[in-house]
Amino acid sequence: MSVKNYIESNKERFLNELFDLLRIPSVSADPKFKEDVFAAAAFVKERLVEAGADKVEICQTAGYPIVYGEKIIDPSLPTILVYGHYDVQPADPYELWDSPPFEPVVKNTERHPEGAVFARGSADDKGQFYMHVKAFEAMMANNSLACNVKFMIEGEEEVGSENLDIFVKENKEKLKADVVVVSDTHMISLEHPSVTVGLRGLAYMQVEVTGPNRDLHSGTYGGAVGNPINILCKMIASLQDENNHITIPGFYDKVEEYSKSYRDELNKAPFDLEAYKKELDVADVHGEKGYTTVERVGIRPTLDVNGIWGGYTGEGAKTVLPSKAYAKISMRLVPDQDHKEIAKLFENHFKSIAPKSVKVKVIPHHGGAPAVVSTETPGYRAADLAIQEAFGKKAIPTREGGSIPICSLFQKELGLDPILLGFGLDTDALHSPNEHYGIKNYLMGIETIALFFKHFKSEATK
Ligand code: BES
Ligand code: MN
Ligand code: MN
Repeated sequence: MSVKNYIESNKERFLNELFDLLRIPSVSADPKFKEDVFAAAAFVKERLVEAGADKVEICQTAGYPIVYGEKIIDPSLPTILVYGHYDVQPADPYELWDSPPFEPVVKNTERHPEGAVFARGSADDKGQFYMHVKAFEAMMANNSLACNVKFMIEGEEEVGSENLDIFVKENKEKLKADVVVVSDTHMISLEHPSVTVGLRGLAYMQVEVTGPNRDLHSGTYGGAVGNPINILCKMIASLQDENNHITIPGFYDKVEEYSKSYRDELNKAPFDLEAYKKELDVADVHGEKGYTTVERVGIRPTLDVNGIWGGYTGEGAKTVLPSKAYAKISMRLVPDQDHKEIAKLFENHFKSIAPKSVKVKVIPHHGGAPAVVSTETPGYRAADLAIQEAFGKKAIPTREGGSIPICSLFQKELGLDPILLGFGLDTDALHSPNEHYGIKNYLMGIETIALFFKHFKSEATK
């Protein structure tokens, strides 16, 4: 039986297993779900064993464990390292979901006329890494596994992968491979299959602005004492100029400027601005002057407030001049910006623009490096060939705006360019209510991954 037929005859089960995994609320950010995160790791371990992997183990870390498994069929054959994450983002706000986030259901959407699975983690990343487990099962079942394979599925991606960082550095021999494949990104569409060749980095900051030593009556003191919320808003607003260029001194010093021909190439990828606006229900897009939407997301850095709070936000009106105001601010970074350097530049600048009437605290959260992947490697060529065989079209290389900080670690520590073979769509609502993943994307992904193994064997041994 061919892999394709095997997938076809087992697709109900492949979906049901994914549903079981999606029912486990493995939210790494919230300690309330600790047991569930461990349960998800155990689930992944069992499925790897069933699929035919050897040496399957749960590697404990200072945080959530890493599930490892391998199948070495012949040490002289190329080895593929598969990376993914079984942890998910918090499902909040729950009330904005049309169905409970951890009770997967299938619904049709405009972009998924053949159905999509709605659940937290369906696209990011359970539905995507699980394709690898099922592709492996299919290849084992019909005796066509063409390369050795190692799985490394972690549980802390959504909180910064700190322990994976240590694990990779300490286990270079164990993780030795010829390529690493990650399915945790988007493709343009099933009609325009693409492979991600760039991800942005991230610097994430929290700021605290303190005015008076206690909340004050806004009549008695209002107008005479600095209001930390007013001041915080002014400070944030000043971080971008009228062209939406970031004003932090030194911020752009290391930003790679691309040639006109590279930018033209990027902008050739199919992108429908009208559909983009319509889907988001915005009358216009917004961003740095002089760049297209594709460039703004792919090759330019950003600064965004992720949350801002302080003062009174309850029912009705309370007249108060608050003592404190807070914001969480993230910056997406591009080559060759260094997240630690950018965090420092931010901190210095933010403190320097604060008026004397307030005190400012800046706390850096996790960060990560950007990554750019070459298209001139056996891995990329194998991905392109696999996509051509499954979709009948050449893969379009794209630069994406999201971050997978561990990718640059693979480059640095293992000397491997990750192949970002993702099958989600940008409209799949990652990190949002109603996250979903197309059933066709899931099944085509399994097929493409199996083809990748076949093509990687011949590309790597050429
Ligand atoms: N899978 C995403 C990253 C992603 C999504 C890349 C879509 C490209 C397209 C990943 O799980 C993620 O959410 N990463 C975080 C960073 C992390 C340090 C929390 C992100 O991008 O915000
Ligand atoms: Mn992810
Ligand atoms: Mn994510």
